[in-house]
Amino acid sequence: MAKMWAGRTAGEVNSLADSLNSSIGFDCRLYRQDITGSMAHAAMLSNQGIITLDEADCIISALKQIYQDIETGKLEIDPKAEDIHMFVEQVLTERIGDAGKKLHTARSRNDQVALDMRLYLRDFSDELTELLKALIKAIRDKAQQNKEVIMPGYTHLQHAQPVLFSHYILAYAMMFTRDIGRVADCRKRLIVSPIGSCALAGTTYNTDRLFEARQLGFDEICLNSMDGVSDRDFCVEMLSALSLIMMHLSRLSEELILWSSQEFGFVEMSDDFSTGSSIMPQKKNPDMAELCRGKTGRVYGDLMGLLTTLKGLPLAYNKDMQEDKEGLFDACDTVSLCLRVCAPMIESMKVNAEAMQQAAKKGFMNATDLADYLVLKGLPFRDAYKVSGSVVSHCIRTGHILEDLPLEDYRKFSELIENDVYQAIYLGNCVKRRISAGGTSVESVEEQLAYLEEFA
Ligand code: ARG
Repeated sequence: MAKMWAGRTAGEVNSLADSLNSSIGFDCRLYRQDITGSMAHAAMLSNQGIITLDEADCIISALKQIYQDIETGKLEIDPKAEDIHMFVEQVLTERIGDAGKKLHTARSRNDQVALDMRLYLRDFSDELTELLKALIKAIRDKAQQNKEVIMPGYTHLQHAQPVLFSHYILAYAMMFTRDIGRVADCRKRLIVSPIGSCALAGTTYNTDRLFEARQLGFDEICLNSMDGVSDRDFCVEMLSALSLIMMHLSRLSEELILWSSQEFGFVEMSDDFSTGSSIMPQKKNPDMAELCRGKTGRVYGDLMGLLTTLKGLPLAYNKDMQEDKEGLFDACDTVSLCLRVCAPMIESMKVNAEAMQQAAKKGFMNATDLADYLVLKGLPFRDAYKVSGSVVSHCIRTGHILEDLPLEDYRKFSELIENDVYQAIYLGNCVKRRISAGGTSVESVEEQLAYLEEFA
């Protein structure tokens, strides 16, 4: 069948060329945005006297019907249509004839697709924010329920200092609050209307771009038509925000995978978020966390793919830009699914306080506190550090932990050490005394929980 743009060419395209050219397979998801944009366009055209009010009414009600028919499944999107824009216009013209043919006045698919993508990402950014909030809430609740559980804090994955599990896990909630900020920031630059840029140079018709933008809930229009049709920064920004979300999810997943291992045993995923093995009957695998970790690479790939597509494109629209969609949609779908899985997975995860507490006893994590104790007794920190290190090394040789080393042994290293040393190195106190702002004390955790309330 000849294309709608037949004229300069016969409009019949080689079938392989047609497959390469067609985007309906993936831009069909833009039908809502495309129809919404077209309704605003028709309203603007009639407002400006470019088409009559009757024509606009006829177009708008037919578009509403098309919208409904697609939603209800009455109208199937034709996989042979070139793209969603052509499909909607084609159905419209079939249904209402000449008035339908006027819709594309003072518009091009170039500004149409740019608008559709912005409308799509505006809606998606709102959904994404809600999903991030749900995840923050799940983390916050887990922290709240296990507020005073002590666990090892690590650097270099070696036992470093004792921390509260709540403090540990809330670090991730903080990352996701920044993600919300990034999505909001990206949204700010996204809600600028390109429509009316037309093919690239604007139009000779007396259009009202701001009116059309406002119909769509945008307060601003892009000020350069060539920029309007060729800008995909907002897609890159969204992909970059999505990549960071995945990076955070991946780091969290890595923790959960480690913590679910027999070696750690700090957490246990609920059965409905675990899988078994086809051969090893005893297995319970944290596949969901592994998949979040695994899919991170894929989302990074989507970001790199688009950056690479855009690199070197001259102004204004080039067909290469059709390649913005699959990767972007893939990233949106992937992140959305991972977030929707992670929130209930964390909610239903069992925290094994006993295993964490036991692990915290190993590794001399209170050695810094022993040094701090000596500082309080008047020793300069560097000297105190040396004494504490020698005590640790003595304990390793003699099979002690700091808690059970007799006082007379301590005093061989420093006369300043007295009976109150045991209070100072008691793990519960080590955590309690880390009262510096943002530290691991319960008070600080409570402040964090209060801060996070506004996101949950
Ligand atoms: N399907 C196209 C895209 O996604 C729509 C814009 C087509 N514009 C054009 N001049 N061929 O980019």
